[in-house]
Amino acid sequence: MTTTVGIDIGGTKISAGVVDEHGTILLSERSETPAKEPDAIVATASSLVRRLRAQHDFEAVGVACAGMVDAERSMVRFAPNIAWRDAPMKAMLEEQIELPVVIENDANAAAWGEFLYGPAREVNDMVLITIGTGVGGGVVFDGQLMRGAFGIAGELGHLRVVPGGHLCGCGNRGCWEQYASGNALVRDGRELMRTAPGLAAGLAEASGGSPKKLKGPDITKAAQSGDAASIELLQDLGRWIGEGAASIAAILDPSMFVLGGGVAEAGDLLLEPAQSAYRRNLSGRGYRPEATWALAHLGNDAGVIGAAALARPDAR
Ligand code: BGC
Ligand code: NA
Ligand code: ZN
Repeated sequence: MTTTVGIDIGGTKISAGVVDEHGTILLSERSETPAKEPDAIVATASSLVRRLRAQHDFEAVGVACAGMVDAERSMVRFAPNIAWRDAPMKAMLEEQIELPVVIENDANAAAWGEFLYGPAREVNDMVLITIGTGVGGGVVFDGQLMRGAFGIAGELGHLRVVPGGHLCGCGNRGCWEQYASGNALVRDGRELMRTAPGLAAGLAEASGGSPKKLKGPDITKAAQSGDAASIELLQDLGRWIGEGAASIAAILDPSMFVLGGGVAEAGDLLLEPAQSAYRRNLSGRGYRPEATWALAHLGNDAGVIGAAALARPDAR
C-alpha cells in the first residue's frame, strides 16, 4: 500500500497527515503556524514530517499553499494574503526531509481531494470554491486538475467583480475575494455593528460586544441560532458567491460547484442563497442545464487529502 503525506499550510495551523490510496488519513499531526516567513513554515512542516515518519512510512509529500504556484509545482510565486514572493518551497523542504515534494495551490489541492473522494466523484467537470480568508478556486476539467500554462489557472478569487471596488492583496481593486470571502463577511458584520447597533444585537452578543472581536464563526453561530442580521449577512455573501459562479459558468460550464473553506460550515444558510443567485444570474437561464451545488465533503481535511493524492507516484 502506497502512502503519502499531505500538508496544509493555513494562517493559524499547519496540518499534516499520512494518507492512503483511498484518501483516508491514517494519522495526523498539527502545529500552530509560527511566523509567516517561508523559513519558519518549512522548519515547522519538516518537524511535522519527522514526527509522522517516526510512526509510519511514506513515499512523498504534497504541500497545499495559499498562493500562486509555478508550473513545476516547486515554488510559491506570489501569495496575496501572506508575504511570500518567489518562495522555493520544494527545494527548501526536500533539503530538510529528503523525500520528493510537490507544491500545489491550496484550493487546487482541495478540489482534487473533493473530486477523488467527495461529492464530485460522480462528475468530470467541477469547480471548487473555498470561502476563507480569501476566495480560492480549483477547477477539474474533463477529469484533470486544470493548472494552466504557468500553474496559475483557477485563481478565481481575483476575478474582478466591482470595477474600482475594494483594494485586494493581489494589487487590484474589486476582486471577488473582497466580496465573497470570510474576511468580507466579517468586514460587513463589523460595519453593521458600528452603523446599525440596533439591528446587530445578536452579533454584539456573539462577539462579546466589540466589533473588533467579531470573527466569522461568531456570525455562523448566531445565524444558526436564528439571528436575523447574521442570516442576512450570510445571504449577502451567498449572493456574491452565486453571481460570481454564474460568470464562471460562462467560461467553464461545470456540472457541479462545490463550496468549501471555513465559512462553508454555515451549510445551507450559505449554500441556498448562493445557488439561487447562481440561477438568477446564469446567462441563457432556462435554456441550459444548471450545475448542481454541494458542500465540500472533506471539510478541513481537503487540503491534506488532496495534497497527499497529488504527491502519489502516479500523479507526480
Ligand atoms: C489566493 C489563492 C488561494 C486562496 C485561498 C487567494 O487569495 O490568491 O492562491 O487559493 O486565496 O487561500
Ligand atoms: Na486555485
Ligand atoms: Zn485580487
